[in-house]
Amino acid sequence: MTRAPRPWWRSAVVYQVYIRSFADADGDGVGDVAGLRRRLPYLAELGVDAIWINPWYPSPLRDGGYDVADYRAIDPSLGTLPEAQAMLNEAHASGLRVLLDLVPNHVSDQHAWFRRALEAPPGSPARARFIFRPGCGPTGAEPPNNWTSNFGGSAWTRVADADGRPGEWYLHLFAPEQSDLDWTNSEVRDEFAAIMRFWFDLGIDGFRIDVAHGLAKAEGLPDASTVGWPPPAGEPVEHPHWDRDEVHEIYRAWRALADEYEDPRVFVAEAWVQSPERLARYVRSDELHTAFNFDFLLAPWQAQSIRRSIETTLRTHSAVGASPTWVLSNHDTIREVSRYARRQGVRPLRTLGDLVDLPPDFALGLRRARAAVLLMLALPGGAYVYQGAELGLPEVEDLPVDVLRDPGWELSDHTERGRDGCRVPIPWSGSAPPFGFSPPGASAPPWLPQPAAWSDLTVERQAADPGSTLGLYRRALALRREHPALGGADGDGEGEGDGEGDGGGGEADAAGDGEGEFSWLPAPAGALAFAREPGFACIVNLSADGVTLPSDATLLIASGPLTDDAQVPHDTAVWVTTGPREETPI
Ligand code: NOJ
Repeated sequence: MTRAPRPWWRSAVVYQVYIRSFADADGDGVGDVAGLRRRLPYLAELGVDAIWINPWYPSPLRDGGYDVADYRAIDPSLGTLPEAQAMLNEAHASGLRVLLDLVPNHVSDQHAWFRRALEAPPGSPARARFIFRPGCGPTGAEPPNNWTSNFGGSAWTRVADADGRPGEWYLHLFAPEQSDLDWTNSEVRDEFAAIMRFWFDLGIDGFRIDVAHGLAKAEGLPDASTVGWPPPAGEPVEHPHWDRDEVHEIYRAWRALADEYEDPRVFVAEAWVQSPERLARYVRSDELHTAFNFDFLLAPWQAQSIRRSIETTLRTHSAVGASPTWVLSNHDTIREVSRYARRQGVRPLRTLGDLVDLPPDFALGLRRARAAVLLMLALPGGAYVYQGAELGLPEVEDLPVDVLRDPGWELSDHTERGRDGCRVPIPWSGSAPPFGFSPPGASAPPWLPQPAAWSDLTVERQAADPGSTLGLYRRALALRREHPALGGADGDGEGEGDGEGDGGGGEADAAGDGEGEFSWLPAPAGALAFAREPGFACIVNLSADGVTLPSDATLLIASGPLTDDAQVPHDTAVWVTTGPREETPI
């Protein structure tokens, strides 16, 4: 019996391109499509399988492009549609798939629909695409309920009627310039289906779904409890606008649409939910293909926490036949070098505000980040690499306040500096800013200032040094492609999971996705060791004591030097082949 090849996305390494900070070709200090196009060979050489591009649509940039004014165009500051098409063709020609960002929960206040809604009277079809409600209190001066914006303050803003008098309120779970759509409205559903087809027909391979856990709101919009989101693990909490069961019906319709294409298109969910069990609901076989694993991202660098996260991820994904993903950072979270530079396990470290009072040890942070990427790339499933992680970039924690653009800075009354520190433009070459990010003679400096110390971290500098973090990523990605245990290029030919518990249990914790079977190996306290079949093992030492390699191990790669007596030192990871030496596959 011949078996269908394993779908590419089940073990893909996807590189996240925060386009405004990736590469600037026209010298205005802002990354663009032409810059990305020129750097495609860099990405192909790095050895990733796909790229995900953060929103590139026309946007007033109230929230870094997540306030979309037109879903079928490219922002003029970034390029044109023909340029985007050329980039896509070139990416495909070099073996890279391309995912875009779809923002379905809200639109910009400059979007034609919202402008029309403001001009239209209460109760009109134009307003019914959004969530407009009368206010509370005798004069309607109070918001319709107690929901709060993710960026601080009320989630409601009042608009004026045609006669200038205060009128209804509209809902925005994010900034006031990001008005929530009403997903019970069929016009909204049809419009997003058409938007997806527009990009799929151009050849885009899939979408990352922004705020996938937020589209459905409880009928009647009841008040929310005051517990933050995601709430602490424990009893499931029903929330009036996060992770509601009704969202899944939307994703079933999207999956059917994506599956209509001959080369089926794929989705990855951004869903901040309460537990890995709840996350697995988004990746049931007739819903979204994969979801970001934020549980892993937030796990402190401690053996027990990481092991628990891996086990729960494998178990919950296996139960629905889905492929797990692994991620260490993105454009919303603190860079891993800076996160791991802090004492671990004190509290979840997601934003700058969470860690800024904890003293950093950046050398330790980098050492752990290098070990973490070897761990991540050895696990079953797919992985996401945020641009600059391959250079070991730290968070820029001291950006001057006058350059901060994150809406959270203003909306939190200057208490949260926000996410700009992980969005600083990439240093490509040279010894001074703009480090090759912009061309010589650029008319403007990079839109966020790069630290002078990044001269040691440029692509140019690291490409010449095999011991650099870039060198580590390149070697690890090449090994991952070659080694059959890691889902290497042609996989083992096993078909896609059938969606119903194929695996799910026992010590093996198989991911059920046709990749080298995963099993834990005995390891000293504070270390993790696991095998993938055939003949591969990964050992990660998170303890202070050295760990001895198994006697039948041959070293493939290490995140840092071993000790003189060939032990794996603290905060170091290695990949080895196991078994009789003559049979080692590489
Ligand atoms: C998640 C995005 O990643 C983030 O950058 C954005 O602010 C919110 N969604 C709102 O769209």
